[in-house]
Formats: sequence, C-alpha cells, structure tokens
Amino acid sequence: MKSLRTVFLAALALPLVLAAKPLRIGFAQTGAESAWRTANSESMKSEATKRGIELKFSDAQGKQENQIRAVRSFITQGVDAIVIAPIVETGWDPVLREAKRAKIPVILTDRNIATADESLFACFIGSDFYEEGRMAADWLAKHTGGKGSIVELQGTPGSAPANERRKAFADALKNYPDLKIIDSQSGNFERSGGKQVMEAFLKKHGKAIQIVYAHNDDMALGAAQAIEEAGLKPGKDIVIVSIDAICEAVKAVADGRLNCTVECNPLFGPKVYDTVAKILAGESVPKKAFNKDELFDATNAATALPTRQY
Ligand code: AHR
Repeated sequence: MKSLRTVFLAALALPLVLAAKPLRIGFAQTGAESAWRTANSESMKSEATKRGIELKFSDAQGKQENQIRAVRSFITQGVDAIVIAPIVETGWDPVLREAKRAKIPVILTDRNIATADESLFACFIGSDFYEEGRMAADWLAKHTGGKGSIVELQGTPGSAPANERRKAFADALKNYPDLKIIDSQSGNFERSGGKQVMEAFLKKHGKAIQIVYAHNDDMALGAAQAIEEAGLKPGKDIVIVSIDAICEAVKAVADGRLNCTVECNPLFGPKVYDTVAKILAGESVPKKAFNKDELFDATNAATALPTRQY
C-alpha cells in the first residue's frame, strides 16, 4: 500500500505532469500541389517538432470535403487548436460553427475564406494575394512598355490566391489598354497543369502569345517547358511573370528563363505557433496578419539565390 507521503508527493507533482502535456494542434493542409506547398508543410512540421507540439497533419489531396472531414476529426479528438489552409474560399461556415461550439480556436493560414461571420475564426495569417497580383502587373507594364498579348494560367478555381491574383492583375491592366489577356485557364497550381494548358494555348494562339502570367511558379515552370518544346525560348520569345519565388523559379529568373517572380512566403510555422500560444494564453492577436513579400527579376535574382530558404 502507498504511504500517505507518496500519495502527497504524487499529488504535488500532478500539475507539473499536466503542464508538461504537449500542445495538440490539428492542421488541415490543402494537399501537395506545388513546391510552395511542400515548403509550407515542412515549415509547419519541423517547427512543431522543434517546439514539442503534437501536430496532427492531414493532407486533403486538393479536396475541400477531405479538409472538412479532417477538421471534424480534430474536433472529435479535442485538439487545443485547429489550423486550416482552406482550399477554396466558400463553404466553411458549418464546420467552423462546430469548432466554435467545441470552443476550439481556428487559425486560418495561407488562404482566407469568404464568410459573413468573422467570429468563426480567431485570425488569418498569410500573404496579401491581391498585392502580389498588382506587383506582377506593375512589373509587366514597366518592362513591356504597357503593350502585349497575355495568356493567364490560373490557380485552383475558387481558391483565394486564384481569385485575388486574377482580380488584382485585371484591375491593374485597366490602366494599360494595350496589355490584353487573350486567354485564361486553370492549371490548378500544378506544374503538369501549367504545361498542359500552355501547350493548348500555343496550339490555339501560336505566335500571338507574347506574355504568360502564371498564378504560381510551378505552372510558370511547366509553361516554360511547353514553350521550349514548341521550339521557342521562354523568357525571351515569351515573357513569363509568376508568383511564389521558390528557389527553382528564382534561379530560372537569374538564368533568364523566367522574367519575374513575386514572393509568397510559405514559412509560416513559427508565426502560426506563436499566434496559437497567444490565443490559448488569452492574449489578443491581430485579426489579419500579412507577410511582407518581395519581387525578383534580372536585377536581383542571382544575388538573392544563396539566401533563399524555400
Ligand atoms: O495559396 C498559396 C498558393 O498555393 C501558392 O502560390 C501556390 O504555389 C500554392 O499551391
């Protein structure tokens, strides 16, 4: 039988044991469609390991229904917080209401959602996709003298980056009536998608294409391959601007194969977990926190390359 002293000491140690319990966080990731996404998942996982956080990672393989299922399972497991990178903007209210009822804070990361009830999530952490599209359009206007026929490779239909990068670019082009989008289709943020759509564009429009605007680097690199296979020089015969600034794209810019890439930093891990800690400690956090993104072109890509982290 345990002595009274042992029981007493065990009772004293209990709060310490409880305090040492790791944070349990569920992360509903979109999938693995791009190099950007791989860097994003890696940042979330490695930072969790560093901080002793128990991360429940779910890859939705590009399907919103899988993400919603993952969020429901996090709620059932009673995690401390839920992080979502929402594939598309709409359709989140019901499951977010369930998380709210269970008193589990939800942090939106990377992509924002469209909702009339902003109390359904604690905060959003990510890039300003509209600003990225505007930066790409301004660079293009400056470097083409405001003239040219553009084909656009859109991201995943209904996603915040595709919607906002498209709108920002179109809004900016209103100031340049001789820069025209002659065709626009989704390559789903995938390299193979960018290549296939570019092949179709080249077949349909041939030499009329002067510029490619890709919503991400993977599609831009896929398009560059299609352009080469058609016997043309990407970056010279056809100007290519895109978004993300993954290492491979910054190198392609330095090599003259792409012309410009606007940064969209995916290394959210530290910021997301700092924010979760604050929320759980009852501190207030900004409702929307945007990363600051840079632009890389022939003037700075080679210098930037050695310090790029993704
Ligand atoms: O939501 C961010 C976008 O999603 C990135 O630009 C793209 O590469 C990714 O798949």
